[in-house]
Amino acid sequence: MRSLVTVTLALVMGCTSHASTTPSTAGDAPASDPFAIATLTDINADPDVVEVRVVAGLARVEYLPGKPADVWAYRDGAIPGSVGTVPGPMLVAKKGDRVIVHLQNDLPESTTIHWHGIRLANAMDGSSSTQQVVMPGTSFDYTFTVLDAGTFWFHPHVHADVQIEKGLYAPLVVHGDDAPLDVTRERYLVLDDVKITADGQLALDEDQMDMMMGRQGNVVLVNGKKGGDLVVDAGGRERWRIVNAANGRYFKLRLAGHRFTVVGGDSGQVPAPYAVDELLVVPGERYDVLVDLPAAEGARVPLETVYYDRGHDMPDVGPKPLLDVVYGPRAPRTLAPIPTSLRPAQPLAIGAKTTVRKMVLREIEATDGPRFYINDEYWPFNTAVMVQQGATEIWEIVNTAEMDHPIHLHGMFFQPLDEQGAPDLRDGWKDTWNVKKSATQRLAVRYDAVGMWMFHCHILEHAERGMMGDLMVMQ
Ligand code: C2O
Ligand code: CU
Repeated sequence: MRSLVTVTLALVMGCTSHASTTPSTAGDAPASDPFAIATLTDINADPDVVEVRVVAGLARVEYLPGKPADVWAYRDGAIPGSVGTVPGPMLVAKKGDRVIVHLQNDLPESTTIHWHGIRLANAMDGSSSTQQVVMPGTSFDYTFTVLDAGTFWFHPHVHADVQIEKGLYAPLVVHGDDAPLDVTRERYLVLDDVKITADGQLALDEDQMDMMMGRQGNVVLVNGKKGGDLVVDAGGRERWRIVNAANGRYFKLRLAGHRFTVVGGDSGQVPAPYAVDELLVVPGERYDVLVDLPAAEGARVPLETVYYDRGHDMPDVGPKPLLDVVYGPRAPRTLAPIPTSLRPAQPLAIGAKTTVRKMVLREIEATDGPRFYINDEYWPFNTAVMVQQGATEIWEIVNTAEMDHPIHLHGMFFQPLDEQGAPDLRDGWKDTWNVKKSATQRLAVRYDAVGMWMFHCHILEHAERGMMGDLMVMQ
């Protein structure tokens, strides 16, 4: 019934579009959309405060039809009797909102929530360097103000390789773009993969390959679903907010006959849109793309992830289908052109005098499997890097390993430098950057907020096996 009402309403209104500044709700897509993600209920009447209840607990989801898997998942604690979903319900706010999250831990293990990409007070960052873990049966309140419009996500920062794999992750969207984008529909595509057994359960053993490359599953998922039809309006244009929540898989997206027009990255809108045929999204990263849909009703095109060589001779197993884009009836209106400039980004002032901080990434074979080092140290036995608030430095990341490492920094954004040493602002400010195998990558970092901020490889097995550090920003 609900889906009928939604469809009828959309027809009456002439379109299903809405201004990009309007927070989306669960009603954003028809209820029949298999890829719809629910929105956490805002229990606060103040329009500038988003207050939600998030419960982390046990749940069951069907990755394979008819074979439910036991997972760990977030559910909306404001809805009595709600069940956990993978991904968890989305946190939606607008730029400048105060966000209050009451986390209840119903897991058999301690947890936290890290707000990946959100600039906030250090005590709210949710890492094991900023708070006591939230013990089973207890709760913790997070509160922060969202300063940047963009696509983010949240996940635990305790045993992240296991807890995220088990299903604890969800998107976080902050509306309030600098430049409005006219689209027929906005979607949230959270990419993941799971390693599952024939009976549909998560295989939680960890082999050498999982430790070395980060666990790659045998089933790829979009919004927790293995395949399905994503029905689009012929002649329309969709906005896809993409998050890679996988432990180790690199997604390189391709939609044959279509291009992805990148309009946003980790920190929100990019300075200027640009179009690509294939879009690489590394673990932890986000991209916001527009997809123009020129085909006629009835067309069906698979969205695939294609091979990307991230090192250690990972074999090319060919394209993997993620879902089918299925063309429905024509969009009932003409769309405004895509703006040519979006959010400007000012390059950081760097020069010959800028301090260069070298970080050498190394992998070694220990008796219990591979270990991943930053400057001859491995977490949690690392010493914090001490820096001054307001200073700008260059991180020179020397990757001696035979594989790529997607490096993520908490609490602030940075600017990757190109080969000439100038900020590469194509994707705006970043919080996650893929440092290629046997290569050196420089990043310009300005230390914004005081406190202990973590930085690490977002291949979660690498982080948990040592490739994680602390950055102490002092006043
Ligand atoms: Cu998305 Cu420290 O993590
Ligand atoms: Cu790594």
